[in-house]
Amino acid sequence: MIALLGGSGLDRWPQLGALVPTTIDTPYGPPAAPLLCGAVDGVPVCFLPRHGAGHSLPPHRINYRANLWGLKAAGATAVIAVATVGSIPAHIGPGALVLPDQIVDYTHGREATFFDGADGQVEHVEFTEPYDGLLRAALLDAAAARGIALIDGATYAATQGPRLETRAEIDRLERDGCHIVGMTGMPEAALARELGLPYACLAVVANRAAGRGAIGLLAEIEQHLAAGIDAAQRLLLAALPHLARRG
Ligand code: HPA
Repeated sequence: MIALLGGSGLDRWPQLGALVPTTIDTPYGPPAAPLLCGAVDGVPVCFLPRHGAGHSLPPHRINYRANLWGLKAAGATAVIAVATVGSIPAHIGPGALVLPDQIVDYTHGREATFFDGADGQVEHVEFTEPYDGLLRAALLDAAAARGIALIDGATYAATQGPRLETRAEIDRLERDGCHIVGMTGMPEAALARELGLPYACLAVVANRAAGRGAIGLLAEIEQHLAAGIDAAQRLLLAALPHLARRG
């Protein structure tokens, strides 16, 4: 089953069809919303808006552990996370879809692991390649087949939020080699890895990052988010058969 995690601008997805709300509890409490589970074009899927059904949870308050655990408990075998981001280099403009291949974690104070030693065990996971190669390839295949532009490869900077960054912070992220910046990429990707769930991120660029664009960031996000999310939804629907083969 392919899990689709929705982010800002994607807390409802009526075009997915008649999915059944499924309430799940986890050792970490309930996920942000009931999971919507069913089949789309014959492919088993479940959808979870990571910020809650009414987009009520800010990035630092999301219960990432409950979300990921809940998806796995519902039968997910792969996770595609849709994430809204700002772009740092000029060649990635608002509205672009980006498939990151690396991540740098600048978040703090979040429950970031299932392996916190409570059971007397110390466990580490490899995270050299944080995103699953087969899922990334499936998304690239679907984008190519449908003629949907998808930028292959970027480093995602996961910031704490909920405020946007300063210009100097974005300068620093650029020096660190980051290309896109968002607030939810971590610990989500690491928790998926800890659960053995293949995970890929489809990033939707809503704005140029702080100090890079000509107009106010919030106005820019408002202006571009809907079209970007629409393109992401089209890509994901086209990608489901590809993902089902690889997930
Ligand atoms: N910074 C952090 N998170 C974001 C941004 C941004 O510019 N745009 C959308 N999410």
